[in-house]
Amino acid sequence: MARAKVESGISGLDRMLNGGIPNANQVVLAGGPGTGKTLLCLEYLYRNALNGNVSILFSLEEDTKMIIDNAKQAFTDFSELDRLMDEKKLIIHGSDQASSLIQKDKQGNIFTFTTTIADIESLIRDHAASRVAIDSVSVLKLFVKDPFEYRNVSNALVAMLRKQGVTALLTMEIDTPEKQRLIFEPEFFIYDGIVIMYLSGGPEENRVPTIEIIKMRGTKHSFSTVPYEITSKGINLLLIPEKK
Ligand SMILES: Nc1ncnc2c1ncn2[C@@H]1O[C@H](COP(=O)(O)OP(=O)(O)O)[C@@H](O)[C@H]1O
Ligand SMILES: [Mg+2]
Repeated sequence: MARAKVESGISGLDRMLNGGIPNANQVVLAGGPGTGKTLLCLEYLYRNALNGNVSILFSLEEDTKMIIDNAKQAFTDFSELDRLMDEKKLIIHGSDQASSLIQKDKQGNIFTFTTTIADIESLIRDHAASRVAIDSVSVLKLFVKDPFEYRNVSNALVAMLRKQGVTALLTMEIDTPEKQRLIFEPEFFIYDGIVIMYLSGGPEENRVPTIEIIKMRGTKHSFSTVPYEITSKGINLLLIPEKK
């Protein structure tokens, strides 16, 4: 039986995904700075909240107010943003609200991220959320220098999200403006899906952002690399119209 799909709500992306993200997939959204990862997460959560699914953004790098201001500035047509936040259908949990991100263990030298994972878990439970974005998991790498510990922490985060049964996007900063230069990060394998956002195309004024689905467990999907634009109505993938 085909798995239930969760619509990303991003124009064109659901067509590439043959209907949407398979329910309860943990998807990494990787790209360089400024490719629109945070905005894509916000649109995913906004559209799902509009459909009655409680949605939470957990930012590990930006303050709540900054996230909301940026979203409002970019997506001026998202007229229900304030209402959904007031009704706690859309919850923006910025880094200012997180308890200390990194704690030392009893030995005082190994860093752990368990408190924050537990915080995220309680918030998901308390609000009965089913759509989640974590922005970004790269922050973990900055703090958790030991590669073994970093892998443990990433695994623990993904395992918790799986246990909660949420459909999640987790952003990751990668240094890959060009598709030809994509390097598979060693931690990619823990995710059910990998989506990459590029900013390629030579001279700055000609740069075109593009998006590609590398992997998505549980569904057929397009392997095309598709240009997109960020508009006041949301992110719009510039797909070739479907043949009748
Ligand atoms: N009002 C806007 N109209 C069009 N594009 C915008 C607008 N505001 C921001 N952007 C685009 O969005 C980018 C930032 O998106 P963001 O999601 O914060 O990127 P990332 O999280 O990948 O670093 C900017 O670099 C800019 O290209
Ligand atoms: Mg961002």
